[in-house]
Amino acid sequence: MGRKSLYLLIAGILAACYIYTPLPDNTEEPWKMMWVNTYVKTIIYSASFVELLGLNHFMETFNTIMSLNNVPVTSDENVTVTETKFNNIPVRVYVPKRKSEALRRGVFYIHGGGWCLGSAALKKYDLLSRWTADRLDAVVISTNYRLAPKHHFPTQFQDVYNALRWFLRKEVLAEYGVNPERVGVSGDSAGGNLAAAVTQQLLEDPDVKIKLKIQSLIYPALQTLDLDSPSYQENAQFPVLSKSLTARFWSEYFTTDRSLEKAMFSNQHVPVESSHLFKFVNWSSLLPERFKKGHVYSSPRQGSSELAKKYPGFLDVRAAPLLADDSKLRSLPQTYVITCQYDVLRDDGLMYVTRLQNAGVRVTHNHVEDGFHGVLSFLELSISHRMISQYINWLRENL
Ligand SMILES: *[C@@H]1O[C@H](CO)[C@@H](O)[C@H](O)[C@H]1NC(C)=O
Ligand SMILES: *[C@@H]1O[C@H](CO)[C@@H](O)[C@H](O)[C@H]1NC(C)=O
Repeated sequence: MGRKSLYLLIAGILAACYIYTPLPDNTEEPWKMMWVNTYVKTIIYSASFVELLGLNHFMETFNTIMSLNNVPVTSDENVTVTETKFNNIPVRVYVPKRKSEALRRGVFYIHGGGWCLGSAALKKYDLLSRWTADRLDAVVISTNYRLAPKHHFPTQFQDVYNALRWFLRKEVLAEYGVNPERVGVSGDSAGGNLAAAVTQQLLEDPDVKIKLKIQSLIYPALQTLDLDSPSYQENAQFPVLSKSLTARFWSEYFTTDRSLEKAMFSNQHVPVESSHLFKFVNWSSLLPERFKKGHVYSSPRQGSSELAKKYPGFLDVRAAPLLADDSKLRSLPQTYVITCQYDVLRDDGLMYVTRLQNAGVRVTHNHVEDGFHGVLSFLELSISHRMISQYINWLRENL
């Protein structure tokens, strides 16, 4: 064998090792999934490297690379797309072109990206909004919000809330031809977190007269207190969203001070004064039996009061909707929750489902056995299209 072919062989083996990812047996399209993971992994490594060199914040690089997938505002044959501002927050508006006798449904969509990444302009969100508008014959508002690390909690929450409040006014709904009795909020991942949070906040807002008909939470992040639930343990290294990346996202929501991230990663961030909150996220009592299998509950270790004093946001119900008490949950609208088996955030969703059901809220729970975090957005996978159809069908029947 010549020297050249030897080098080629070595390069090939290295590339294969880099791309190859062990996946569960029920993965539908393992090779495509490995490509998806390789793409995400490459962005993460590049952003980490740039940060290590001291050149740029990890999330800034990550977001810059992601935004290469942004698409301009363009209408197509079925949907008119425009950009405007609701209360100074930029939003994209998707209105079906076909004539409608009746007022339409309204969907207020909040994109994901760990409070640090993404926008309504990302191709995957633009397509999802387009499809929702077209197939559901609905007006879709896809909102932006300011991101970490430039902005921290509660800016993200507040931006989304301000845009939603603007939308939920009689004149505005009338302008877009939306039926005030058929408005829902929806979001994925960090967007699911924000969707759950603003839906709770609306219950306490006497100025907003129009009620949401539904909320739809797609693999939402819902609690900051326990980053060691069974789903965190089982999926700590799973593709796309590892436990360490999750701790980074969560902590960046509150601060760029990495001591919070460290404390969160070791599950030692909640001070003893706040240990009464653990009952709201006690997976031992809130998870269905089959998800507890092989795990023994221990409550998180005691953290320093100093961190909680400096960054009280991580104990705030507007950041962690699972911290709401039952009297508040009871008044929430009908709810759709998607959870994925291979997702550190799975148990957040499962616990919210239990708590909402216990509080008497009507909940449809769609647990995706072969799903992983972010799957809805990977449009190259057929599982993504299957889940989008299920989601839109649920909206058709319930909104
Ligand atoms: C518009 O709607 C028609 C009929 O449902 C469909 O065949 C077509 O693909 C849609 N166009 C776009 C750009 O989605
Ligand atoms: C969690 O729930 C278990 C079982 O219901 C209970 O024994 C334990 O005391 C609870 N722990 C906390 C911190 O609420």
